[in-house]
Amino acid sequence: MNELKHKIFQTISEVADQMQVDTYVIGGFVRDIYLKRPSKDIDIVTIGSGIDLATRVSQQLKPSPKVNVFKNFGTAMLKFKDMEIEFVGARKESYQRNSRKPIVEDGTLEDDQNRRDFTINALALSLNKQNFGELLDPFNGLEDLKNKTIKTPLDPDITFSDDPLRIMRAIRFATQLNFEIEEETLKAIARNKERIKIVSGERIIDELNKIMMANKPSMGFKLLEETGLLQIIFPELQAMKGVEIVKGIGHKDNFYHTLEVLDRIVPNTDNLWLRWSALLHDIAKPATKKFIDGQGWTFHAHNFVGVKMIPKIFRRMKLPLNEKMKYVQKMVQLHMRPIVLSEDIVTDSAVRRLLFEAGDDIDDLMTLCEADITSKNTDKVKRYMKNFQLVREKLKEIEEKDAIRNFQPPVDGELIMKTFNLSPCREVGLIKDAIKDAILDGEIHNDYEEAYAFMLKKAEELGLRLAN
Ligand code: CTP
Repeated sequence: MNELKHKIFQTISEVADQMQVDTYVIGGFVRDIYLKRPSKDIDIVTIGSGIDLATRVSQQLKPSPKVNVFKNFGTAMLKFKDMEIEFVGARKESYQRNSRKPIVEDGTLEDDQNRRDFTINALALSLNKQNFGELLDPFNGLEDLKNKTIKTPLDPDITFSDDPLRIMRAIRFATQLNFEIEEETLKAIARNKERIKIVSGERIIDELNKIMMANKPSMGFKLLEETGLLQIIFPELQAMKGVEIVKGIGHKDNFYHTLEVLDRIVPNTDNLWLRWSALLHDIAKPATKKFIDGQGWTFHAHNFVGVKMIPKIFRRMKLPLNEKMKYVQKMVQLHMRPIVLSEDIVTDSAVRRLLFEAGDDIDDLMTLCEADITSKNTDKVKRYMKNFQLVREKLKEIEEKDAIRNFQPPVDGELIMKTFNLSPCREVGLIKDAIKDAILDGEIHNDYEEAYAFMLKKAEELGLRLAN
């Protein structure tokens, strides 16, 4: 096994033999060897003291890395080259009902494998010389890897109840690896869903973001929905599911539509926040839904209501309340604009306004809009895509001509106040807006001289006099 030829494993092997302790590499690193996914996180388990082993290994390495000891957990960690290696003594754990913190005792390798989350994460490779590289796989994890199955080593009710974060991890691994969750394991997730409430928001969002970054995030969200977890951790998204019919007219199921948009944006962006924008773009549709005779289903101002819902969602889910959130809000607010634009005659003025509002995020907005076209009608899709192409060309042309993207009006409030000897007042705002509109509407160029002349004209209309 090539991965074990690395110097670090040779050193651990020698030291373990000297100390006469059975030692193994275990968990995610071993799983990833078989999945051919390169990994830099190495977990070492020893039938003895992990801290002693780490200290002796460090002494053998040149240069000797610092050993970080976590006495309370009986673990030690060191960094060697680009790898992080964690050492722990094999243990047996038992859990209490209301806490993720276990009571820990020393144990055998099998005890240690028993307490792990999934069979594919319980694989161990021996590092002692006499059986170096031998696979210890008491739960047929290798078979599950081949069959692409997520399954707990013990009764799933015990594994999940011991550590309910594993409920999220099961769905995350299934999504990341495109594996199926074994039937009894899946049923246990649904049965134990309420236990997720004792897991911190930070841990949940870590898993959810890994789902968001997978190749097909919809898979994870569908599993969350089917098992009843979505209602607990993300009720706003759950509320999007379902179709209401009034007078024979239904609307699309916004949950599945949203998941389609999310999957469609994946190949075009690795930006987590653009993916979040796709997930949230229609989040206010349930709140704004209304059936109007003659019009059918309407979702009036769902983009603006969505913008207002986002801070609450971000706060509860422990997502950042900074410029990342503002970016998502901006995407949600503007998500229909390019579509409306493409349905109409694409005027310079409308394009300038869109550029002004989206600024540097204009390309991301176009990416979101293109993902949002999920119609089954291929003619319609073709038409939209062609119109979007037109909008993109027009955006480029106008940007080259007028440099609107990060546009600051060439005449600002300071200058207006100075020119007419004003203190801050309504007129200053009026003139400023009028200049901005005139530039965006193409009445004048984005140019100081023209804006200055326009200011004088506007001020005269308002009856203002020049300062002496
Ligand atoms: N583990 C567990 N239960 C958890 C977390 C981890 O049993 N809630 C065990 C698993 O055996 C896992 C190992 O600890 O393989 C290491 O965990 P971690 O580094 O969190 O995950 P990986 O499996 O390495 O996967 P990833 O790096 O993708 O998170």
